[in-house]
Parts: sequence; structure tokens; C-alpha cells
Amino acid sequence: MGKIPEYTIEKIKDANDIVDVVSAYLPLKRKGANYWARCPFHDEKTASFSVSPSKQIYHCFGCGVGGNVLNFVMEYEKLSFGEAVKMLAERANIPLEFEQVSPREQSDTGKLRGMHMRAIDIYHETLYSASGKAALDYLHSRGISDETIRAFKLGYAPETWDFLVSRLAGSYSGELIFLSGLAVRSEKDNRLFDRFRERVMFPVYDDRGNPAGFGGRLMKENAKDAKYLNSPETPIYNKRRILYGLNVTREMIRREKKALIVEGYMDFLQLYQHGFVNVVAGSGTAFTREHAQLLRRFADEAVLCYDGDEAGQKATLRTAFSVAAYKLDCRVLRLPQDEDPDSYLRKEGAEAFFRLEAEALPLMEFLRAYYQPSGMSIRQKSDAVGQLLEEIRSFPDPVYREMFTREIAKLFKIDEITLLRQLNRQSSRSQSAEKNVFTGEKPKHFKTQGEAAEYFLLQLLVNASLPVRKAGLRYLSPVLYRHPFLKQVLDALLEVLNTNISIPSGHIPDKIADPKCKQFIIQLLMEEQNGIDEEKLFIDSLKQLELQNLKLEYDRLTRELADASSAEIPLIVKKQMENREARKKLDIRYNKDIFLEVET
Ligand code: UTP
Ligand code: MN
Repeated sequence: MGKIPEYTIEKIKDANDIVDVVSAYLPLKRKGANYWARCPFHDEKTASFSVSPSKQIYHCFGCGVGGNVLNFVMEYEKLSFGEAVKMLAERANIPLEFEQVSPREQSDTGKLRGMHMRAIDIYHETLYSASGKAALDYLHSRGISDETIRAFKLGYAPETWDFLVSRLAGSYSGELIFLSGLAVRSEKDNRLFDRFRERVMFPVYDDRGNPAGFGGRLMKENAKDAKYLNSPETPIYNKRRILYGLNVTREMIRREKKALIVEGYMDFLQLYQHGFVNVVAGSGTAFTREHAQLLRRFADEAVLCYDGDEAGQKATLRTAFSVAAYKLDCRVLRLPQDEDPDSYLRKEGAEAFFRLEAEALPLMEFLRAYYQPSGMSIRQKSDAVGQLLEEIRSFPDPVYREMFTREIAKLFKIDEITLLRQLNRQSSRSQSAEKNVFTGEKPKHFKTQGEAAEYFLLQLLVNASLPVRKAGLRYLSPVLYRHPFLKQVLDALLEVLNTNISIPSGHIPDKIADPKCKQFIIQLLMEEQNGIDEEKLFIDSLKQLELQNLKLEYDRLTRELADASSAEIPLIVKKQMENREARKKLDIRYNKDIFLEVET
């Protein structure tokens, strides 16, 4: 069966009213804006399963399931996605079309990809032209062969300020060129000029081989510019989900069930060239959990190959837990201090690297070598264990959480039961905060006013009118949030609204990958309150949020004051004064004008 285009799926969803579909299975009763029934997915006496006709979604307040009409049919009839689509298509008499170019492909995304393909070709040709000679020499001097250069389409961006822009301007609007991230605007006269100049260019693709962005390296390092410059986030470049090289190496990774993870473009290419063809690298960002989730589709095991220095070890530790959270077995390859995979391979060769790979330590052994628990003081041990439990606590799978906790107990020679209890205590503490939110208890049950504000703002981002959403995009940021789960939800929501600010609220859950966030947002949709003054609630909550952060900052300064030298005291006191001033100004800063401002 071919792929059903996105817009056909949308059409099928639109043609199947969720209330009609669900009524065929359950007796629905109208109460207020929604319909209610006893939940078919868990045992219950009272009706906590609700369906919203306006948003076309369902949600059970008892067991937490929820989704759109397709999800309901899949769950109820135990069908695959394709089967559910087929069934609902038949129900609405819509012919299924496969494998067509969807209109979306021809829109910005398609154009941005086309523009990148052009840029890749232009930079690649330039590398092999007279003006690219120094860049080509540079790549050769770093041991990169022409074969590799061709395979990964490496290129060169010359110094000329509008080299690329002038070549793209004939085919694309200035706005689109700016959106692509390949150009930046001059502050003086607003003209576009090339982002990448005098750099060796590494094209970055998504895992399906669509071009997404670039990394560019200086040939001579200097103190002024970053050694590597990367494309910014764009509609086609989501750094947290793209792994450099995966488009080429995914089949090899799938075959071996194992991936080598490195930090840099050069490390990737050098490993690939030496026959280690099951490798991926991050691009322009640290390794994220989304990367791990992506890799899990191809591999069972990850071998981390980071720099041998202190920073490399720290990055290893972070990545190891991201990888473990998504159930990849993890081993750590250890390089000598001052080496990275690239430099080591060039010095010692493939066989030596192969031996290191064979000796790579299982995660727990790496932790033993990293922490050396036998030499730690009690305080150091307790700090380390606390941090490790914090990581483990956010693993999605409870069985994994428990198994890791047992291993940590063994490693630090702590009683297993005690540690498991601590894990649960920590989790029940932070989950109970989540719980309040989850069960729809009213904000008076939140621990703090700040927490309630964080919740209301999410509620508004989802349900409120366009001006309020726009203000949200402009004024809200995850760094302002304290509650870890609400912060995660905000992050996901902003990402969706950034790509499409006017998305109908009922479509938002479909764009959210994380299942917990998704369920939470469905619940926010269901809890929409009518007749409230959205703008007032937004402003009040925003002020509350700022106030919370200013207070925390003030307390931090007070603690700093306790340890400060007499030279530092005046500065800290000045900051505290400014902090008090800022609190007084909140009313002036945030009033209904913020909604006018964002309309212009
Ligand atoms: P490194 O500093 O370890 O460089 O950065 P490297 O990979 O060894 O590069 P070479 O060998 O000096 O050429 C590792 C990765 O971090 C990102 C890049 O993705 C790089 O490959 N990075 C590094 C940046 O995004 N910006 C920088 O300024 C530096
Ligand atoms: Mn390097």
C-alpha cells in the first residue's frame, strides 16, 4: 500500500464527525458543550469519557486516553493507522489516493528544499573551481578523499558577500531566501547577504535524504568567529530531530542494529571513510532525546565516541541517559585525552579504532570509571546518586526506571530498597504536581501562584483567540517556566504555533509527538472555559509568572550576598534594587496594549 497523502487524511477526518462515529459504538449524552459516556477503554461506573464536537476530539478524564476520530477507531476496533483511514474513507465515500504530490510539498517546504539543493550544487561546484582551491587543499590536508567529498557533496562558500544570494535571487523571493537561513539581513539597509562566507560547507539532510541545512567550517580558526557556523532552525531544519549522515548510514545501522555516535562532521566523515559506516553525528546541537527516539527506529545499541577530555566525558554522560531513556543499549568508547575520533583514526588507523570499539564499556562500567565511587565521600556519593536518579526518573518506561535504579544501587553500594523508595518519593513528589494538572483539579490546588499562572497560560495558548496566541508566542518562553512538565508542554506548543499560528485548536494534539504532552493538551482543550476575559487572564498570569521569577532571582541574590566579598556587595545590592523596581513596573509593562502591539 502506498502512502496516503496528508491532505487526503485531513479530508477523511473532516468528513467523519467524531460524535457520529463514536455514537455508533457508545450511547452519548449531551451535557454542556460536550457529549459524555462511560469509557469503553477502562472499567467505570460514572461517565468520564467525553467527546467535543467543536474540537473533534475525545478524552477520558478517568484513564487519560484521548485523540481524534482516527485514534478512536484505531483504539476501539484495534486497527492499524492505515486500516482505520481505509475504514473511515469508506464510511464517508472518499476514494483513497496514494502517492501523489501533496500541495504542501509544493509550498514553502518544497521550495526551501529545492533552494537548498541548488545551494548544495553551487557550493560543491565552487569547491572544484579555481576559487575553491584553498578549501579543497584544506579538506585533502585533513585526509578527506575526493570520493568522500563527492559522496557527501561537501562544498565551499567563497568570501563574496552576495555570492549565493545573487544566484538564488532570480528564482526565489527575498522573503523565502531569508526564511531558508542561507542569508541574513543587513541591519543598515535591510539587504540580504550570504550567511556562510569563506567556509567549507557540510550539507545536512534529514533521515529521508531531504536537504535541511548546512554546517560551515572556517579554514583558519580565529578568535572572532565561531569555528563552525550552522543554519538556524527553519521549517525544514529541526536540529533536535536531525542527525548528520543518517540518510546515508541508516540502512547499515539497521543491518548491524548498532550505531556509533560522534560529535562532529569531521569525526563522522573520517569514521565513514575508514569503513565504520554505521555512524551518525549531531549537527549544531547536543544529542537530544528526540535524536535517541529517531535512532531507536534503526538500532538496538549505541556506542558513544566522544572526545577524550573532560568536556567529552560530560557530553557522554548526558547522551548516555538520552539514549538509555529510549531503550538503546549503550556502550562508551574511550579515547585518550586530547583525541577525538578523527584525530585518533588518522594517527592510529582503523584497526586500533576497531579494538577500542570492541573494548567499549557498558554504561554501568563507564559510570564506575567516571565516578569511581569507592573513592567518593558520603556527600559526593549522595549528590551523584541524586543527580542520576533525576535522570532516571524521566525515563518513559517504569520497568527501565526500576532496573536502572537497581544498577545504580549496586554501583554505589546502597541498599536497593532504600534507593527505589527514594526514586518513588522523588517521582511521586513531582508527579503529584503533575497529577493536580492531569486530573483537572482547579488551580487552587497548585503548589504556588506561579504554577497556576504557568498552567493558565498554556490553557490560553491552546484555546484563546489569535491576538492572545500571538502575544503568547512573543512573551512566553520555556526559560520562564519552573514546573518541569508544564515547561515541556510549553516548549512543544510553541514549536507547533511557530510553524502555524492559526492552527485550529483541535488539530494541535496531532502535531505533538510526546504522548504525555499530547494527552495533556487534549485535556486543556476539553477544559476550555467560556465567558472568561482571555486578555485579562493572560496579562494577570504573565505578571504572576514574571513576579515568581523576580522573587526567585531576589532570593538568589540574597544568598549570594551572604558569601560576597565587600567589593561585590554594592553590585548585588544594586541588582536587588533593580529587582524591586522591576516588580513595581509590572503593571505598566503588561497591559492590554500588548495585544495591539503584536497586531501590527
Ligand atoms: P569540535 O569543537 O569538537 O570540533 O565540535 P571538531 O568536530 O573536532 O571539528 P574539527 O575537527 O576541529 O574540524 C564538535 C561539533 O560541535 C559543533 C559542530 O557540529 C562540530 O562538528 N560546533 C563546534 C558548532 O556548532 N560550533 C562551533 O563553533 C564548534
Ligand atoms: Mn576534530
